[in-house]
Amino acid sequence: MTLIAPSILSADFTRLGEEVKAVEKAGADWIHIDVMDGQFVPNISYGPIVVQACRRVTNMVMDVHLMIETPDARIPDFAKAGADYISVHAEACPHLHRSLQLIKSLGPKAGVALNPATPLSAIEYVIDMLDFVLIMSVNPGFGGQKFIDASLNKITALSKMLSEAGSNAIIQVDGGVNNDTMEAVTRAGACCFVAGSAVFNTPDYKKTIDGLRKLSEK
Ligand code: DX5
Ligand code: ZN
Repeated sequence: MTLIAPSILSADFTRLGEEVKAVEKAGADWIHIDVMDGQFVPNISYGPIVVQACRRVTNMVMDVHLMIETPDARIPDFAKAGADYISVHAEACPHLHRSLQLIKSLGPKAGVALNPATPLSAIEYVIDMLDFVLIMSVNPGFGGQKFIDASLNKITALSKMLSEAGSNAIIQVDGGVNNDTMEAVTRAGACCFVAGSAVFNTPDYKKTIDGLRKLSEK
């Protein structure tokens, strides 16, 4: 299974609705929505209003990546706005088990995102609650950064950890995913690929998405 999830962080916000529809038409599977609070990460992006606006123009799965402090206070708003998948950062959740319970109690699928320096052991005792795991392959905060190679071994180890635990959680990789890194991240065991600049900074979204999919099926 290959899931391509364009991140709207690199879309043209003056035409957000058109951009979302364009990637849907081009064959994207999910739409990835990066929420940044200027605290957990050094950048501010957008909140539930934008999730709600996307919901009005697409039936695609909406995957909301919360790069925010104290996410529990905000999770209900994102669930109400129409998020299908919500990930929280392990580094921002002292009560990670409770945060995951909260997401699931409201309906969306629950995931944990791990920064490049965070070990996989952060999810060891919540593994049975996870619908997906997001491996950050850049430091979160900005689009267009270079892929961190150490992420490959981490994805391989995660893949083993999940299968040993009998988990079907989806492995999502986020940051620097493009034509140059796609084959390696697939081989490591990822199946959901977030791509921001690699999709939105190209003229022909269909050609780009088809190309990425082909590299992952090689
Ligand atoms: C980074 C975000 C990513 C970002 C990826 O903080 O979580 O989703 O949009 O951008 P690219 O694909 O350009 O690295
Ligand atoms: Zn993201």
